[in-house]
Amino acid sequence: MRYLQRCAVTNFPAPPKADDLTLLDSLATAVLAIDGAMRIRYLNNAAEQLLGISARKAVGQRLTRALTIPDALFARIRDAVESSQPFTDRQVSVEPHGQDPQIVDLYLSPFRIGKTDQGLILEVTVIDRPLRIARDEAILTQQEHARSLLRGLAHEIKNPLGGLRGAAQLLDKQLPNAELGEYTNIIIREADRLQNLIDRMLGPTSRPKQDAVNLHEVLEHVRKIIIAGACDGIQVRFDYDPSIPECLTDRDRLIQVILNIAGNALQALGTAGKIVFRSRVVSNFTIGGARHSLVACLQIHDNGPGVPDALIDQIFYPMVTGTDHGTGLGLSIAQSIMNQLGGLIECNSEPGNTTFTVLIPLEIP
Ligand SMILES: Nc1ncnc2c1ncn2[C@@H]1O[C@H](COP(=O)(O)OP(=O)(O)O)[C@@H](O)[C@H]1O
Ligand SMILES: [Mg+2]
Repeated sequence: MRYLQRCAVTNFPAPPKADDLTLLDSLATAVLAIDGAMRIRYLNNAAEQLLGISARKAVGQRLTRALTIPDALFARIRDAVESSQPFTDRQVSVEPHGQDPQIVDLYLSPFRIGKTDQGLILEVTVIDRPLRIARDEAILTQQEHARSLLRGLAHEIKNPLGGLRGAAQLLDKQLPNAELGEYTNIIIREADRLQNLIDRMLGPTSRPKQDAVNLHEVLEHVRKIIIAGACDGIQVRFDYDPSIPECLTDRDRLIQVILNIAGNALQALGTAGKIVFRSRVVSNFTIGGARHSLVACLQIHDNGPGVPDALIDQIFYPMVTGTDHGTGLGLSIAQSIMNQLGGLIECNSEPGNTTFTVLIPLEIP
């Protein structure tokens, strides 16, 4: 059934067995079959994602309608079809319709469709993927170091702090003059403030819940809070992929993550600008070295000034802030929550275009 939906052709070779298709769908490489008229006859899951189009829409379309390809490359693809010669092209820029250009490696192998029609199998590997995976791994390592440093520091500070606070309370009871209580109160208050700061730096320590969570409900919940706190000059839009299934995760913690990120976007914009809450689902996606068959991408985009260059590699560390009154804890807490939830936060930022992407693995029923 899936095959018929994907191919919608009459003279395609004998349908591959269901196992073969599952196999192709589980590849991270985009695979397309093109016929002699340069129309798409088949595409796997990764190709759907690359082109940002469903197989139902893409099959039957001309390749050039789904993908803008440099003229010279297009001519080579035509030649490959006509001459039945395979070829490889590396690091070419292609532009999936309506999306940002991507640098890819292309492998073309001719094959025969039916008895006469010449076709082509196109394998497309997006080459920034290894870079992204390496960067994700760096974020995770960074996070692990920061957390173990924090845990050690918290242990060293909390014990004496508890002693200090207890001693101040005892002292308070023994004071000959009640007015001196002002000073013991300062010690107790400041000890509590430090304790509180350390707890916040460590983030939630209990096990996260595993409830069925509607991710759009979470995004909308935060969007309303942001709208309530935004000036008139700020637009807060949304762009959701309705196909995202429910996710087994901790709703409250996820809300805190999105709120920390969106709160920063609001702060960065000041009095005017645009924030977009976006959701997408991608398959065969790697998060910090672990491959997941289905992943939800929740994105908060803003058109503000962007993360300062000097901070971009450190924003997920605790106490790193670019603002006068910031604590520098928002993103570090958000990142450690996402670690607990098996996901990750990525950031891409340049002036006028900042996107924080929250990646959450989805359970497949
Ligand atoms: N959307 C954004 N646009 C510009 N800069 C940002 C954005 N999000 C985060 N930042 C930068 O990252 C820093 C760290 O953020 P965060 O960890 O939440 O701490 P805080 O908000 O307390 O400064 C911010 O101070 C800011 O400089
Ligand atoms: Mg913040």
